[in-house]
Amino acid sequence: QDASISPAEKTQDSINNERLQNAIAALAAFGGRDDGGVARETLTQIDLDARRHLIATARALGCEVETDDCANLFFRRLGTTDLPPVLTGSHADTQPVGGKLDGAYGVLAGLEVIAALNDAGITTRRAIEVVAWTNEEGSRFGPGAMGSSAFVDPSRLPAYREVRDGDNITFGEAVDAALLASADVSRRPLALPIASCVELHIEQGPVLERAHAALGVVTGIQSVRWYKVECIGMAAHAGTTPMDERSDAMMAAVAIAQQLYVYAAKQAASNLRLTLGRWQVGPNSVNTIPGKVDFTIDVRCVDADVLERFEQFLAEITTSHQWRGNISFDCFFSRPPTHFPADMLSLIERACMRAGHQAKRGDPQKLTSGAFHDAMYLAEHCPTAMIFVPSKGGISHNAAEETAPEDLYLGVQALAYTLVELANR
Ligand code: GLV
Ligand code: MN
Ligand code: MN
Ligand code: MN
Repeated sequence: QDASISPAEKTQDSINNERLQNAIAALAAFGGRDDGGVARETLTQIDLDARRHLIATARALGCEVETDDCANLFFRRLGTTDLPPVLTGSHADTQPVGGKLDGAYGVLAGLEVIAALNDAGITTRRAIEVVAWTNEEGSRFGPGAMGSSAFVDPSRLPAYREVRDGDNITFGEAVDAALLASADVSRRPLALPIASCVELHIEQGPVLERAHAALGVVTGIQSVRWYKVECIGMAAHAGTTPMDERSDAMMAAVAIAQQLYVYAAKQAASNLRLTLGRWQVGPNSVNTIPGKVDFTIDVRCVDADVLERFEQFLAEITTSHQWRGNISFDCFFSRPPTHFPADMLSLIERACMRAGHQAKRGDPQKLTSGAFHDAMYLAEHCPTAMIFVPSKGGISHNAAEETAPEDLYLGVQALAYTLVELANR
């Protein structure tokens, strides 16, 4: 072994791929489905069981385990100083039917880095903490990334606690139950100082695969806005009401939707992404004219000005629509674009270069994240960045979500190098 090898390089070389793949399979068993998918929505009993599994795994590695008022879980490997720690990790919850990698990979990768540090007998100046953020997915309690959002700004937590799931359980009740189930874990405040944060995640899109790149240096996260559009007309008899005397909320909603799709198509050059994902029709009856239709808009772009103009267009078409009813819209979630700092990007690029070149897989690819992540909120709090590995076919939020084991391994190697460099700063 070369005596001049740095602690970061030595840790990278100590990553154990077999242990990593076993850890991924073990966590996937919590909520594992026959089709290979995972059903582990946040703070369900299955998620609480998975959290116990993570706590036991971390303790076996010698980590201190802590939680906070949002039930985020922190696994700390002490440093030689009390300086603020370097943070890594992601989330362990899944979509109603998700894959075994979205989120879980980032948490298990952090624990693998700690195992490798133990194997190599390396100490770092700063502590390294692995976090499993609560409710990143937002499918049970919306919006997503509540744990990381509340961590960086605790004033957001009271409103989150009032959010209800489909069974009328509040997020606050679910968090309290999780805290009760981990009463042996000590509680710490939100918003503690963090030196820097790196999140490793699968890409969940096709960019890296198309570029034949094993690793991605994520330069930022595109901006996003969520709206609810509400069209209120009048319910009436489908057979007796003349067409020109109707106040049909569906007719209005479809016209608005069509104009939005045409607008989005014209913005193809700026990569505007438009999704009208959730529709509710009242009274939702085959022979009653819809009296009320509401639908959601998820619109994203790297350029926030494009979203600003989209909103102006939405305001224009909803106020000028000629009919007897009423249309309104409300923005209920909005994030500006996130730009990760240049010095974090150059460190991650160096880490990805070493891992990629050792494996003869070449240079990493720079890209913007199409999805949002907990790192989006952490970037409000400390220097933050992300590393991506490819997703086969770009598929995620699906049981078929997959990444080649070799790429998963390289991602953790790049993470290991990055964390040790940051922890020795
Ligand atoms: C969550 O990952 C999102 O981008 O919607
Ligand atoms: Mn995720
Ligand atoms: Mn997800
Ligand atoms: Mn996500």
